[in-house]
Amino acid sequence: MRELLREARAELGRSGVDPGDATRLARALLGDGVLLELLDDAPDGFEDAFRAAVARRSAREPLQLILGHVGFRRLVLHTAPGVFIPRVETELVAGVAIDAARAAVARRGNARAVDLCTGSGAIAAALASEVPGATVWAVELDPRALELAARNLAGRGVTLVAGDAAAALPELDGTVDVVVANPPYVPPDGVPRDPEVRDWDPAIALYGGGDDGLAMPRAILARAAGLLRPGGVLVMEHADVQGVAVREEAEALAAFEAVTTLPDLAGRDRMVRATRRGAPEQVGD
Ligand SMILES: C[S@@+](CC[C@H](N)C(=O)[O-])C[C@H]1O[C@@H](n2cnc3c(N)ncnc32)[C@H](O)[C@@H]1O
Repeated sequence: MRELLREARAELGRSGVDPGDATRLARALLGDGVLLELLDDAPDGFEDAFRAAVARRSAREPLQLILGHVGFRRLVLHTAPGVFIPRVETELVAGVAIDAARAAVARRGNARAVDLCTGSGAIAAALASEVPGATVWAVELDPRALELAARNLAGRGVTLVAGDAAAALPELDGTVDVVVANPPYVPPDGVPRDPEVRDWDPAIALYGGGDDGLAMPRAILARAAGLLRPGGVLVMEHADVQGVAVREEAEALAAFEAVTTLPDLAGRDRMVRATRRGAPEQVGD
């Protein structure tokens, strides 16, 4: 086992991959309850399966697709080829939306939250699991993402809607407490360098449209202005270089006030938070 792992770490390192993925793949193949450190001999079938998994990772297939799952806040979610893999920075975006939804529940006893461009369903699933009292909708256009979101949202009480986020859920206009989105926002000349992103995340999940990648984020701002009730909160992820532009777009819409850019864990601009103008309702309204 030690020899197999040593070879795998070297192979991954040569391919520009974190050598620690060798241990992660081995642990996943061995399953819970097996202590990798104590194994001398590889169990039956392990070597072939492990070499195959290491070869896939060396070819820069994302670890989360090989494992078939990814951690997101408190949850473990399914992954699938052709669907955007949830990222660590989006856990923070979800956290800001969760705080806003909890505040609405504390004010009125319930809250309505909408996750536009839900992809795997990650943000919607986190909202439903962490905010008792929230009613959650999730909107997605791509059929492959919809299929995965349906698996990840099953049993969570989230309403999954197939359609264009730019025009979604008109029946909820003026009634929503939180709109959250991690839309596509990469500009056309911002092709990602990492093969795991460039070759595996689908274009519909990455490229936001227009010269600046902001066509879809702009559409989300407009839709959020329609969906939110006065005092409701929009939280939207964007690229680290888009903080000023997105803030200006939000401020240009008369609908929003308290427009703020918030950072990710690396201190880079990562999301906008804005409040729908108008006084929040009082208890009993
Ligand atoms: C960056 S991914 C984010 C997925 C998920 N929210 C997350 O954070 O992991 C953007 C998602 O938006 C979806 N999408 C792109 N255009 C859309 C549209 N017009 N309406 C709804 N969903 C759209 C893509 O299919 C993709 O799943």
